[in-house]
Amino acid sequence: MSERLKGKVAFITGGASGIGEAAAFLFGEHGAKIIVADIDEDAALRTSNELNSSGIDSLGVQLDVTRDVDIKNAFSRTNEKYGPISILVNSAGLNPRLPSLENKSSEEIWDRIIDVNLKGTYLTCKNVVQQMEENGGGSIVNLSSIMGEVAYHSSMSNGFSAYNPSKGGVLLFTKNLAVDLAPKKIRVNCLNPGFAETPFTEALTSDTELVKKIIDLHPIGRLAQPKEIAYCALFLASDESSFVTGTSLLVDGGYTAQ
Ligand SMILES: NC(=O)c1ccc[n+]([C@@H]2O[C@H](COP(=O)([O-])OP(=O)(O)OC[C@H]3O[C@@H](n4cnc5c(N)ncnc54)[C@H](O)[C@@H]3O)[C@@H](O)[C@H]2O)c1
Repeated sequence: MSERLKGKVAFITGGASGIGEAAAFLFGEHGAKIIVADIDEDAALRTSNELNSSGIDSLGVQLDVTRDVDIKNAFSRTNEKYGPISILVNSAGLNPRLPSLENKSSEEIWDRIIDVNLKGTYLTCKNVVQQMEENGGGSIVNLSSIMGEVAYHSSMSNGFSAYNPSKGGVLLFTKNLAVDLAPKKIRVNCLNPGFAETPFTEALTSDTELVKKIIDLHPIGRLAQPKEIAYCALFLASDESSFVTGTSLLVDGGYTAQ
């Protein structure tokens, strides 16, 4: 087993699926203890059981990242079992392939997407700072997106109305927090992936016409696998990136280079 994250305690929201799950296994393979935190309790427990079965020390916890009380409870359980959190990955996210602005329920959906993607990231960060500081520092990795950097025409997907603003918010929140927390030795960075094949994008990728258009937007000629995103999270989480803070790392097969 590699020791890139030896002695680290990694708390991963959205850890039961897609990019978060890939990070959970990869970080565990590199020596970290893993907390799989997800709104889907069965999936969180299933993933942490699989990690434990493969020799990775793991705890599964249920939480809704929009609820401060859930985060505090999940952090207490983590601290009781493993001590202070040294790595926080915010991968919980929502992107229902839903509503254009005309949709009647769009305000409700707007609120939920902003709440989960942006406020949820703020709440976990807010709650983790003190323990990271007392422990001599830490690394926070937030999942933004190429959609936090550039626009996406809603005709491609029937509307991403709140998604891009939520991810743009995560990007600037990350930079601001990085500046504030640098003196406390807490690094804060975000990953900005292109389209990856996960349950999150199934509604898009199961549409054969649409997926072709989406692939064409990535010069590399395919979508990402979750592990390819997780490897970049591993770098940002580990001490190898000790001089990197406030950055957004594009992992997008060239999508935004054009
Ligand atoms: N897949 C992509 O193409 C892609 C591209 C760019 C950015 N991202 C971002 O990466 C992150 C992970 O995406 P993914 O593809 O792995 O998605 P996914 O749907 O596979 O996993 C997301 C996980 O978050 C959990 N979750 C949702 N709401 C939650 C809440 N309120 N509290 C706690 N957990 C909650 C879900 O249960 C799920 O397990 C998201 O933030 C997404 O916006 C994904």
